[in-house]
Amino acid sequence: MLLAHLSDLHLDGTEYAAARARAAVDRVRAAGDAVDALLVTGDLADHGAESEYEEVAAVLAGLPFPVLTCPGNHDERRAYRKVLRDGASGDGASGDGPVDELRVLRRDGAPALAVLMCDSSIPGTSAGALSAGTLAWIDTSLTALPDDVPAVLAFHHPPARLHHPLPDRLRLTRPEDLADLLARHPRVLALLTGHAHTAAATSFAGVALRSAPAVTYALRLAWEGEGHADDTQPPGLAYHVLAPGERHLTTHFRVAA
Ligand SMILES: [Fe+2]
Ligand SMILES: [Fe+2]
Repeated sequence: MLLAHLSDLHLDGTEYAAARARAAVDRVRAAGDAVDALLVTGDLADHGAESEYEEVAAVLAGLPFPVLTCPGNHDERRAYRKVLRDGASGDGASGDGPVDELRVLRRDGAPALAVLMCDSSIPGTSAGALSAGTLAWIDTSLTALPDDVPAVLAFHHPPARLHHPLPDRLRLTRPEDLADLLARHPRVLALLTGHAHTAAATSFAGVALRSAPAVTYALRLAWEGEGHADDTQPPGLAYHVLAPGERHLTTHFRVAA
């Protein structure tokens, strides 16, 4: 099972953002049908405009594997839904409620991995939270899966500190709610996030946490100089591997130079 993982395209009508998105997607496209799904964990658009989601749809079109997305703090639910989801989310919700989606990926005809794309955005703010409704949806979805099917949760805001003041200030709030949920569902192998604009690996509540690098500018770390935005680094991406019988993901980080 191979998951490709992009995050933070921040498409905004500029050639800078569009070229980086094309480069990252082309790198994943080259892996062909080796990829079981491409996950894109939020900040797809920079201002939440419909025209930006048209760009998102264009750059993600024609890929030979499922493309699963979730919103970030730069996204706007109604425009996101209208362009990318035909007006509704995967769980049937509509309007400006959370955009959540479950996809069970199959291998040899059998369920092999459940991917839950969860909406951690809070309309009108940069902060993040999994709403009570989304937490209940995750709980119900995980409970309904066959016993032997592992799962990953993908959402925008990392729940753990990454030791940089900017993403740490805007990390997922009420992480204890997520920790409680994870304690009830040991089938969750990993949390896959974005938002921090840096390739990072840590853990949260005993579960692996992988932050995809951004497709747009990278986060400059505290010991790398002044200013938080570094546009000299190439677009980044991650690949997560889950082999049959294993209970952990192996992650490779790549750049699309
Ligand atoms: Fe972002
Ligand atoms: Fe973000």
